[in-house]
Amino acid sequence: GAPVTADVSKLETGQRMTVEWRGRPVWIVRRTDDMIERTENFDPDRLADPDSNEPQQPQYVTGPLRSIRPDISVLIGICTHLGCSPLYRPEPDDVDMAAWPGGYFCPCHGSYFDLAGRVFRNVPAPTNLEVPPYRFESDDVIVVG
Ligand code: FES
Repeated sequence: GAPVTADVSKLETGQRMTVEWRGRPVWIVRRTDDMIERTENFDPDRLADPDSNEPQQPQYVTGPLRSIRPDISVLIGICTHLGCSPLYRPEPDDVDMAAWPGGYFCPCHGSYFDLAGRVFRNVPAPTNLEVPPYRFESDDVIVVG
């Protein structure tokens, strides 16, 4: 499949847009500073693969944020369990911030992922959400594929 171009100039902080690449949804989120901080500071013991050692991302995507730029997240929007579409739940839990840092919840069988697509421990999904190959053509234009 051909690469897909995404213009993120109108993507507000905290918001998500979706483009299709090779028949799959690709989520692009402009993370707020708060979202970045919550992801970087989240307890790695609650994640199955906090350092993304499973090859679910390009080599140039590193660190807890799993992205080229801290503010822009690019993920394949398909649960790594049986392929459902997880829901975007970016807000932390009001009652207990530590319990839910914001991220994605798959309603099919109850898998949780953080705002970098890192999967929680003890959920059905075996691996982090996939990061597709991508690059920045300019500050506002991303090429996926
Ligand atoms: Fe997402 Fe099963 S398909 S938890």
